Amino acid sequence: MKKIQKGSIKKIEKIALDTFVLEISSNIQEAHSGQFISILCPPKTLRRPFSIKGFKDGVIEVFFKLKGEGTNYIKSLKVGDSVDFMGPLGQGFKIENKKSLLVGAGIGIAPMLFLKDELNAANINNFLITGFKAQSEVIYGSDKTVIGGSVIDFLPEIIEKFKPEVIYSCGPEIVLKLVGKTAQEYNLDAQIAMEKVFACQVGVCRGCVIKILKDGKVQNATICHDGPVFDAKAVVWE
Ligand SMILES: Cc1cc2nc3c(=O)[nH]c(=O)nc-3n(C[C@H](O)[C@H](O)[C@H](O)COP(=O)(O)OP(=O)(O)OC[C@H]3O[C@@H](n4cnc5c(N)ncnc54)[C@H](O)[C@@H]3O)c2cc1C
Ligand code: FES
Repeated sequence: MKKIQKGSIKKIEKIALDTFVLEISSNIQEAHSGQFISILCPPKTLRRPFSIKGFKDGVIEVFFKLKGEGTNYIKSLKVGDSVDFMGPLGQGFKIENKKSLLVGAGIGIAPMLFLKDELNAANINNFLITGFKAQSEVIYGSDKTVIGGSVIDFLPEIIEKFKPEVIYSCGPEIVLKLVGKTAQEYNLDAQIAMEKVFACQVGVCRGCVIKILKDGKVQNATICHDGPVFDAKAVVWE
């Protein structure tokens, strides 16, 4: 079982419509893109999961978008306040030394920006495209930002020009499904970061099970513990 951590808020700032950046100072030694932390939001007992957007010298950065009680609790916190969290949790992206196309949608940009930093540090050529529903929701840092349309429509042109060898993606299920389909059409591998409502967050309650193909057989996998990152080809969409 992962240890519960205590951290303190270093920064909390609005960055777009209903969207905030949160930095937590902690004793964490290591974190990778695709992993997440799970924040306790009292009086709620179920922790809320957030992808790690950046990590340096123990400081974990996440982006959070207001949704319900949990995210509104986090928004009410101030610099210096203590945060109870678990993490880093889950299996992150497996970085390959290959020309990489990164596809984010909405708040799914968070792990993509972390991955981009990791690829840049490893001198791996990359291109990040992200889509947002409206200008007010845009978070900057991508090589191409699509506003109001679908990132999927731009993939064929980018693939033909940039010629990636692998695709990574995070966003709503429909985007991940279509990224997987596009990757297959171009005979490319794709790693996708999945999302589902989490309860325990550590592979115990089985509430986040999906079907994946492994060793030629359909098997169960938990998004929180076996994922959130999966090989797009292995995911059996329901
Ligand atoms: C692996 C993972 C990474 C995520 N990364 C981010 C991120 O970087 N930034 C961000 O803003 N959001 C992220 N989310 C979604 C975020 O966890 C939910 O928006 C948040 O839990 C909502 O909590 P709430 O109490 O404000 O909303 P409520 O709607 O009141 O939440 C009720 C319950 O549903 C769960 N829930 C609601 N929506 C989601 C959702 N979309 N995904 C998972 N659980 C949900 C909550 O955890 C809670 O148990 C991520 C979710 C997962 C699974
Ligand atoms: S949330 Fe409990 S197994 Fe994933």
